[in-house]
Amino acid sequence: MIRTGVFYGTSSGNTLLVAQMVANEFSPHATLHNVEFAQSKDLEPYDLLVFGIPTWGFGNMQYDWEKFLDKIKQTDLSRKKIALFGLGDQVHYPETFLDGLGLLYSALKDKSIIVGFWPPEHYSFKNSRALVGGMLAGLAIDQDNEESLTKSRINSWCNQVKIEIQVNI
Ligand SMILES: Cc1cc2nc3c(=O)[nH]c(=O)nc-3n(C[C@H](O)[C@H](O)[C@H](O)COP(=O)(O)O)c2cc1C
Repeated sequence: MIRTGVFYGTSSGNTLLVAQMVANEFSPHATLHNVEFAQSKDLEPYDLLVFGIPTWGFGNMQYDWEKFLDKIKQTDLSRKKIALFGLGDQVHYPETFLDGLGLLYSALKDKSIIVGFWPPEHYSFKNSRALVGGMLAGLAIDQDNEESLTKSRINSWCNQVKIEIQVNI
């Protein structure tokens, strides 16, 4: 059994919805946390941490994530596996698509093991800070323009993460 904590920040509800769907894929041992109310100690019980973040304000992290990252900057994450997913809008923000995901990745990459990189080929954008060596730093969800693809993207990505962390849930 692997214990999974799904931590999300949201300003208009989309990332909550996706976080719920991700938690369902890892059920029954997955718990949801809104980072607006979470504390560093909330990370402790989990083997796998799944972090979900939308991009706001032309390339910024969602506000609650900025505050939560500050809270956890002294937390030892070296034995955790972390998988990231990001929400963005590739049509209206093609120059800063998923930048929040990229900023979150940059803050975590030297502190923990990141899994769940995702190919960028099926999205259309000009620039993204989430691009790392030709891959996106996590699952990309665009609820504004491609909602119909969300369920299958989540299912594929969660299966990929399960294989990467080599567990059967
Ligand atoms: C004012 C505003 C700024 C945004 N800026 C970006 C952006 O820079 N990059 C991007 O990919 N998406 C951007 N978005 C799209 C949001 O990330 C997207 O709607 C997301 O699903 C919101 O998630 P939430 O409902 O969980 O807050 C922006 C949306 C708004 C309304």
